[in-house]
Amino acid sequence: MRYNAVPADVRITLLADLPEALPMLAGLFVAEWEPYYGPEGLGDAEADLRACCNRDRIPLAVVAIDAAGTVAGTAALKPESVASHRHLGPWLAALVVAPAHRGRNIGATLVAAVEDEARRLGFPALYTGESPASGLARLLVRRGWHEVEGEASSLRGPMTIYRLSLTET
Ligand SMILES: CC(C)(COP(=O)(O)OP(=O)(O)OC[C@H]1O[C@@H](n2cnc3c(N)ncnc32)[C@H](O)[C@@H]1OP(=O)(O)O)[C@@H](O)C(=O)NCCC(=O)NCCS
Repeated sequence: MRYNAVPADVRITLLADLPEALPMLAGLFVAEWEPYYGPEGLGDAEADLRACCNRDRIPLAVVAIDAAGTVAGTAALKPESVASHRHLGPWLAALVVAPAHRGRNIGATLVAAVEDEARRLGFPALYTGESPASGLARLLVRRGWHEVEGEASSLRGPMTIYRLSLTET
């Protein structure tokens, strides 16, 4: 995959093509979403990531990796994400950039990569649950996403559901 906006030293690949990234990504999930993926939580980060090692069906994940082979972040295309909105999908979910790599457009590039994967697989629309603290709302709106369905909630508090049509040019 090739994306113009990504920093020159970073490339995006499918997690299915980079299984060695799995333990590092699992560590990132635990650090970022400790209430769910930490020792007290219900989640299993490695199992969730392993389930995303698909190429031509969902769930799948994309990974940002720098020239030194360091994993900078990931995002997933999943059939389900926000529990209160199971009737919608698929979802851009599990987006995280390692703290040392934030603010370099890698998050935006991972969003673009998941949009492209959803298009490639023929989905007419894509959804995501956005937490205000992520700072992603402006980016989503700029990329053509629209707010839908009012508010939802997650372990981190309120979320807004956004939809992107993949059939409009
Ligand atoms: C959200 C996250 C993925 C952004 O990754 P990133 O690589 O730093 O993002 P980018 O550099 O591509 O910036 C994307 C947008 O987020 C904004 N942003 C990035 N970090 C921010 C911060 N700490 N506070 C507020 N906004 C921020 C940027 O300004 C940019 O918006 P803009 O283009 O309108 O200015 C990253 O901060 C992260 O992993 N956070 C923890 C997990 C999380 O919140 N995931 C999203 C769940 S909804």
